[in-house]
Amino acid sequence: MQNPKEIAGRRAAEFVEHGMTVGLGTGSTVHFTLVRLAERVKEGLALRGVPTSIDTERKAREWGIPLATLDEVAAIDLTIDGADEIDREFQMIKGGGGALLREKVVAALSRREVIVVGEDKLVTRLGTTFALPIEVVPFARGPVERRLCALGAEVVVRAREGRTYTTDNGNLILDCRFAAGIANARALERELAGVPGIVESGLFIDLAHVLVVGKQDGTCEVRHKA
Ligand code: 5RP
Repeated sequence: MQNPKEIAGRRAAEFVEHGMTVGLGTGSTVHFTLVRLAERVKEGLALRGVPTSIDTERKAREWGIPLATLDEVAAIDLTIDGADEIDREFQMIKGGGGALLREKVVAALSRREVIVVGEDKLVTRLGTTFALPIEVVPFARGPVERRLCALGAEVVVRAREGRTYTTDNGNLILDCRFAAGIANARALERELAGVPGIVESGLFIDLAHVLVVGKQDGTCEVRHKA
């Protein structure tokens, strides 16, 4: 049986056209996009990739995908990225891999954002299957945690292998569970943006344009935002 992540990841790489500047997302689904893009580069495709994490940058370099920084590009034609949850309106939770800040910067600069997921990431309400990651400067962890609790979240400071997790930007991630999910993602995103010490939240509102869903039966569905 084919892996739904591989089906979606490879399919999305076909959206890239010769000469494009391409935002390169992060995660195990985009991994397959990078593999396919590397194949296409070897076949003669010209592109400049803007990586959203150190992990993606390392893979792209290793596999021969040409890279550029945000300082070097005027615009991003297309970004391909994963998601932890995506709803019917293409609103998302991202940041499972800890790259939400750079991913959101790149998404906001992109003409088109293509999201690659397995069908298990489709939800009717955000926050029901995945905790919302929030990137916070270490100095402000205490007050931000208290504020998030007051907003109804159960907060866990992300750790990996017994150590506090640090993002590529030197910050912490607070993973927030809301008992009944997130009723109004747009309002919550706005509220979080106003909290000093929060660098970014994993709520991605109105940033996705195309959704590529890999399925267990080996097929792939491409949906465009209405
Ligand atoms: C990283 C992300 C990823 O795109 C998201 O976690 C999905 O990852 P995967 O494709 O491995 O399930 O937001 O910060």
